[in-house]
Amino acid sequence: MHSFTWLRHLSRQMFGGNPFGGNCLPTRVSLFGSGRPTSPVPLPWNYKDPLRIFQTFYAGADNEEGWGCHNRYLYAGGISPVLVSRDPGMIKAIQAMTGDKPGQFDRDTSPTAGIARATGEDSLLYANGALWRRQKSLVIKPFSRGNLFQLHRFEGFEKTFRNTVAKRLDCLRERQLELGKSKLLVELDLEIKVIMLEMLVNNFFGGSVGYDELRDYHVPAVVYLIDHMVRDTVAPKSQAMARLFTGENRTLGRHREAFAALTDIALAGRKQKLGSWAEFESDVPDSALRSNIMVFLAGAMEATTSFASWAISHLSHSPEWQSRVYEEVKSMDHYDPDDFSGAPNLNRVLEETLRLTPSLYFLPRRATADTLVETTDGRTMLIPRGTHIRLDIWHANRCEEFWGEKVTGYPADQFAPERWEFMEQKGLSSREMLHFGFGYGPRFCPGRSLGLLEVGLVVGAMVKLFRFEAVSGRTGAVAGVSTKPADGVRVELELRS
Ligand code: HEM
Repeated sequence: MHSFTWLRHLSRQMFGGNPFGGNCLPTRVSLFGSGRPTSPVPLPWNYKDPLRIFQTFYAGADNEEGWGCHNRYLYAGGISPVLVSRDPGMIKAIQAMTGDKPGQFDRDTSPTAGIARATGEDSLLYANGALWRRQKSLVIKPFSRGNLFQLHRFEGFEKTFRNTVAKRLDCLRERQLELGKSKLLVELDLEIKVIMLEMLVNNFFGGSVGYDELRDYHVPAVVYLIDHMVRDTVAPKSQAMARLFTGENRTLGRHREAFAALTDIALAGRKQKLGSWAEFESDVPDSALRSNIMVFLAGAMEATTSFASWAISHLSHSPEWQSRVYEEVKSMDHYDPDDFSGAPNLNRVLEETLRLTPSLYFLPRRATADTLVETTDGRTMLIPRGTHIRLDIWHANRCEEFWGEKVTGYPADQFAPERWEFMEQKGLSSREMLHFGFGYGPRFCPGRSLGLLEVGLVVGAMVKLFRFEAVSGRTGAVAGVSTKPADGVRVELELRS
């Protein structure tokens, strides 16, 4: 940072001036303090618990009034302000103003620096400005609802997905029959990852990688690399040093090779237009698509696994909702995630899962210029250039004021799919009640239709085949690139007759 800018920030910080403007001012959070969940910045001892870091921003907020208790900022060390918001109106307005036009917000690349080092900087996820726009136009079509849901294509997909899921769940069933026990204790996290990666590599990209190879070689590689990307973002230099002494470099190299081989397999279908490759109507060389394919493989496996794991985990605590979903799916042979009439309860479970336990728990933005944001209810906030913005989806969705009993009929921190029924009856549409599970605005998730289809099919097939019960009374959350149930989805499975 330019030394003049640093000094300007420092003097403002020391004299306590609020660098924001408008009629909806955020309130300041101090760097040091007692009685808080942790420090408001990632440090070597707390970086693995980002949800608590965000929670720290709202310490004492319940006793405050006004929008400042939902919009907080940290301003210290001579660096640009960090704005953290759990205010749905502000989150929506900032997302709507993210894009490649002058003065619009960028996606802040600092929390994904490790991902870019692993996949390349030109992916749709990492790029900003004109490069982002170009990457988006390259890849958007194959993921579009219009493409995935054309009758002939959708039926093909659904059949293959259904077969894949059924085969994998059958393996679990066989294990159970072999052991001769009525109930089997399993951690489903790994199984879900394998199914998700298999659907992507084999069904979407037209590969033909065997189950064992995926489970024992590729999935561990992607899992290791995702973990590495998080560490490499938070403390890149100390991690690199540590690897020199622990021999970890060899492990990293081996997993990088496995991931590169998987990317080659996905790209290999392009020439013969296998899977969905026919929809990529572009003659750019493979190298121009490579970083995107890597992001799709790792990111999509991560996000769909998180989503499906949470849905199964929530259902494992709720026999009542499991039965409701079972009644719907037991004789269902067609699933359309956007058609609530076909499986309203399954859809409510998925909607509620993404609200209470969003896979992507925060969305990073950066102000490229001094920018005035206006919410739909007329509030304004002037955000200074350079501000790092963290749209805190996790805490927005758990805030009683926005999602609690008064508004939705049920406490905000409870898994209650029936709230969606309540809201429908009150005439509140999902357009008004945004939980940002797939983002909002120009940087909305392009994989939504594919992801929902995969997750709906996996959860539906799981409920159809098994009754399952959580082993722990309450499941906590862990968060890295995405959030996951802390117990690895440990359940007791019982085969339905
Ligand atoms: C079903 C689980 C999924 C969830 C919950 C999810 C969630 C999200 C969210 C919240 C964003 C917005 C990020 C932001 O605004 O900063 C996003 C963006 C993105 N998602 Fe997904 N996603 C899922 C599946 C997928 C799949 C299956 C793919 C691709 C195969 C994918 C590819 C992407 C990409 C490339 C972006 C960046 C788009 C851009 O910046 O223009 N996602 N996703």
